[in-house]
Amino acid sequence: MYFPRVLKCPPRTLDQHLTEHRGLYRRPPTKTGFLLRGKGFGRNPVAGRATVEGMRIILLGATGLVGRAVAAALEPRHEIVPVSRTSPVEADLNDPGSLDALFETAPDAVVCCAANVPLRPLAELTDEQVLDDLRAKLLGQVALARRAAERLPAAGSITLTGGTFTEPIPGSGLGALVNTGLAGFVSSAAAELPRGPRINVVSPGWIAETLEAMGEDGGRGTPVAVVAEAYRALVEGDANGRTVVPR
Ligand SMILES: NC(=O)c1ccc[n+]([C@@H]2O[C@H](COP(=O)([O-])OP(=O)(O)OC[C@H]3O[C@@H](n4cnc5c(N)ncnc54)[C@H](OP(=O)(O)O)[C@@H]3O)[C@@H](O)[C@H]2O)c1
Repeated sequence: MYFPRVLKCPPRTLDQHLTEHRGLYRRPPTKTGFLLRGKGFGRNPVAGRATVEGMRIILLGATGLVGRAVAAALEPRHEIVPVSRTSPVEADLNDPGSLDALFETAPDAVVCCAANVPLRPLAELTDEQVLDDLRAKLLGQVALARRAAERLPAAGSITLTGGTFTEPIPGSGLGALVNTGLAGFVSSAAAELPRGPRINVVSPGWIAETLEAMGEDGGRGTPVAVVAEAYRALVEGDANGRTVVPR
């Protein structure tokens, strides 16, 4: 697997991440840890960090395979605002202007699991095609993150979606470019936002349910529920600048 050398924090597995932060995720909510809507987060005075209940979370890609699983993982403890190009709350990563209105709902966190980069043989790519393929998943997520960094409370978080090719496969060049770009982006952006919000990316390999839908062996992939757990851990935890590869 290729990890960009510029990453200060190498991608880690979800297990490694959960092991390091086990205490945090298991801490029961405290009475003082409530959300002060419009005034930022309630704080746990002992831990000095935002508590993990009652956030309003914008979820882009909510109608997709990953988005539905992420919603199921977060819904019991948070308010989800589902967004896609066809949801009642609409936004299009190809149209950065459409992202501004999302922040009128005063969210505490943003999760994006929208948009794909198709596998396309290098020989068939035109310059226009390259730009088109980079527009939503790379440039669109950067546009979303820039807006979120300005508008979320300091204790909030931005969680993006990349991907992982365990080995190069035909047509994966642009996808690899996007994945590596997002990993580098969150690492650098986190360093620029020392007071928050936190920013991370989940980079799954093939998802079991997707492989099965393609008529392939789902056992080679990661169950979508495991992938969703990575998002939940990043939203509720304190990781920053990380690329998490769920396994
Ligand atoms: N499935 C896998 O095996 C796998 C593996 C690694 C990484 N990933 C990544 O995980 C993410 C989610 O994958 P998935 O399998 O859940 O995809 P999916 O089922 O096709 O869902 C994609 C979601 O994104 C929304 N969407 C697509 N283009 C959009 C745009 N331009 N602006 C706003 N919303 C848009 C779709 O809704 P509308 O069409 O209504 O807008 C849908 O809600 C993608 O970034 C994908 O590359 C997936």
